[in-house]
Amino acid sequence: MTNRIPLIAGNWKMNLDHQQAIALVQKLAWSLKDAAHDFSTAEVAVFPPFTDLRTVQTLIDADKFEIRIGAQDLSRFDSGAYTGEISGAFLKKLDVRYVLVGHSERRQFHDEDDVTVQAKTAAAFKHSLVPIICVGETLEQLESEGQAAVPVRQTLAALAGHANLGEFVIAYEPVWAIGTGKVASPEEAAAVCSKIREAIANEHSQEVAAAARILYGGSVKAANVAGFLRSPEVDGVLVGGASLDADEFSGIARFQKHIGV
Ligand code: 13P
Repeated sequence: MTNRIPLIAGNWKMNLDHQQAIALVQKLAWSLKDAAHDFSTAEVAVFPPFTDLRTVQTLIDADKFEIRIGAQDLSRFDSGAYTGEISGAFLKKLDVRYVLVGHSERRQFHDEDDVTVQAKTAAAFKHSLVPIICVGETLEQLESEGQAAVPVRQTLAALAGHANLGEFVIAYEPVWAIGTGKVASPEEAAAVCSKIREAIANEHSQEVAAAARILYGGSVKAANVAGFLRSPEVDGVLVGGASLDADEFSGIARFQKHIGV
């Protein structure tokens, strides 16, 4: 047993405008309330597009929902002439707690490399946000480099060179399992998460490694979540498509019902 509280994170990607966001968050909150969800045993966070954040914050605040807010990206810079960028300082003002850094779609479509991801991780620490550092290999990399090599390398690169490591989360998302319906087996996910933790312990310390939550992501659904979270190596899930359906995402958040803990 560990004392890491599982994190159930819903990455909406570029879906749902601010009005649709209200409907989803309200439905999700009611569904969790109906099920008497205990947030101290599984934290729930949503990651809406930037334009929805203020609306979601206002709703959560007014209705005292225990759902946390995350952002999908942040600028490596604090402020200034960076057209189109969003500062971590602005996110913090909106009660954003988590921020995704280095999602594979950012690495793929926006050419983000390990240097950018490290700089964005530093920006998150600077603004007291918790970075969720996304790592994962393509199918070609899996075949050429083997299991865990790429995610371990990306993790260590993102965590290198910080004077002080704040709280952070790692999300192992094999690129070949994102939005494809192909899912890593629970054993594969647990093995990679365990290797990431071991690498953090070797490079930093046992304490840092023991405190870090390491999530799995890639085609997670209510029907398969229990398999991943049964392993003590996996501290939560980062969910894409299935987080856009309030009942399905609420079912994922209530994974403990399926594994009897
Ligand atoms: P899917 O759950 O749609 O495969 O997406 C995973 C993901 O990329 C979450 O960040």
